[in-house]
Amino acid sequence: QEDHFKKVLSHAKEYGYIFGSSEIYEGLSAVYDYGQNGAELKKNIREYWWKSMVQMHENIVGIDASIFMHPTTWKASGHVDAFNDPLIDNKDSKKRYRADVLIEDYAEKLNQKAQKEIDKAKKRFGDKFNEEEFVTTNARVIRYREEQDRVLKRMARSLEAEDLADVKALIEELEIADPDTGSKNWTDVRQFNLMFGTKLGASADTATDLYLRPETAQGIFVNFLNVQKTGRMKIPFGIAQTGKAFRNEIVARQFIFRMREFEQMEMQFFVRPGEELQWYEHWKETRLKWHLSLGLGEENYRFHDHEKLAHYANAAADIEFNFPFGFKELEGIHSRTDFDLKAHEKFSGKKLQFFDPELNESYVPYVVETSIGLDRMFLAVFSKALEEEELENGSTRTVLKLPAILAPVKAAILPLVKKDGLPEVAERIINELKWDFNVVYDEKDAVGRRYRRQDAAGTPFCITVDHDTLEDDTVTIRDRDTMEQKRVKIAELAGILHQKVDF
Ligand code: GAP
Repeated sequence: QEDHFKKVLSHAKEYGYIFGSSEIYEGLSAVYDYGQNGAELKKNIREYWWKSMVQMHENIVGIDASIFMHPTTWKASGHVDAFNDPLIDNKDSKKRYRADVLIEDYAEKLNQKAQKEIDKAKKRFGDKFNEEEFVTTNARVIRYREEQDRVLKRMARSLEAEDLADVKALIEELEIADPDTGSKNWTDVRQFNLMFGTKLGASADTATDLYLRPETAQGIFVNFLNVQKTGRMKIPFGIAQTGKAFRNEIVARQFIFRMREFEQMEMQFFVRPGEELQWYEHWKETRLKWHLSLGLGEENYRFHDHEKLAHYANAAADIEFNFPFGFKELEGIHSRTDFDLKAHEKFSGKKLQFFDPELNESYVPYVVETSIGLDRMFLAVFSKALEEEELENGSTRTVLKLPAILAPVKAAILPLVKKDGLPEVAERIINELKWDFNVVYDEKDAVGRRYRRQDAAGTPFCITVDHDTLEDDTVTIRDRDTMEQKRVKIAELAGILHQKVDF
């Protein structure tokens, strides 16, 4: 798995997907730039989300709120007082870590040990293996799982009670060491606010302290009535938004999994009080279906229902994805009650209520939110798509099997040779297709090498112009995944591509 992750990193750079930010100055930790292919892939994921959430739902509309918001927003939302991570420094290495992440990593190792026992037994017993029975009877698996559970629960309890001394005690009891140096010499754990501050206005005495938004959700809450009134929306209805969010993450690692500047795709669904848990179940199911529609493999997703809930929630679950470093949160679905709208009512003094004509009464709606990180979704898609494939002739090829609907470039147009008028025909095909599809032209190297290059870049189709084309206006179209080639009329190309890449 670690090896695969390394390949993901280098492949993303080599093929113009992701670069470190301001690399010529040695970069900035946990900040990344999307290259020519990355920007396209990211845009396609965003559009796929937007289409299925906004366009396909009559009762969901999209907005685009500002990154800067009135500073009281973050008082009301609880971010000023409670958006903290527990931080611990290693006295010897002077390195800084999130205390909860150190403990979670420890728990994950126990999980991996249990999994190893299961895998071993699976191999040994083959078809006769009954996993359910094994995990409830094997002493080692039970011990690992119980210890994992105990550690995570105790951490959650201590964090909930803000008992940071106990978090430190737990790290000591588990004998957790600095992952980089092995030192166990820690400072006390303290809380660290994750919001980035900045200033609005030029003169020092009149400037206002602002924050860069740490989530897009609040831009939706403060616009709830604007949208409801101007759009004459009736409950239940949703407001969606995509955009940048910023968090001063302490442990920024695992590439674009945890970034300091990232993009969220969020939808707040406003419902009648009392109906929120039904809608919560509805959105859990709907969002999982959206993920499965991309065909990355059902076994790579699982729900993680939260036992410990944030102060504003009465139910919460993550959709976890099997990243190259294990199952981790990809998307959150939260039943946020009326916490946010009520808090904004209190701090602004403005009523944020809906008059329900069917019930003939006004109320503050409850909210079910779906919230996914666009960059994290990018990593999920990209890391699963990258494969080293053994071919029948014994050679291997690197192929990026991105879902065709998300691929940055939909087709490469290749003249078999650089002469005899073939480049001109290829050019003509490009000029026809480029109105609807992102296509590229490539004439360098033997055609086999060009195929490999497009396979690795993730291009789902290669269209080759050869001498027969000059006779009968047909070309070959090669499928990246099956490597099969078919001869088709040039006039059919657009129709074929529409069928394969439209969503
Ligand atoms: N409005 C709710 C909210 O922001 P969250 O669980 O803090 O909830 C939602 O974030 C999603 O945003 C996460 O599931 C994750 O995909 C993404 N996300 C959060 N922090 C991130 C970071 N530092 N880098 C990349 N993605 C992040």
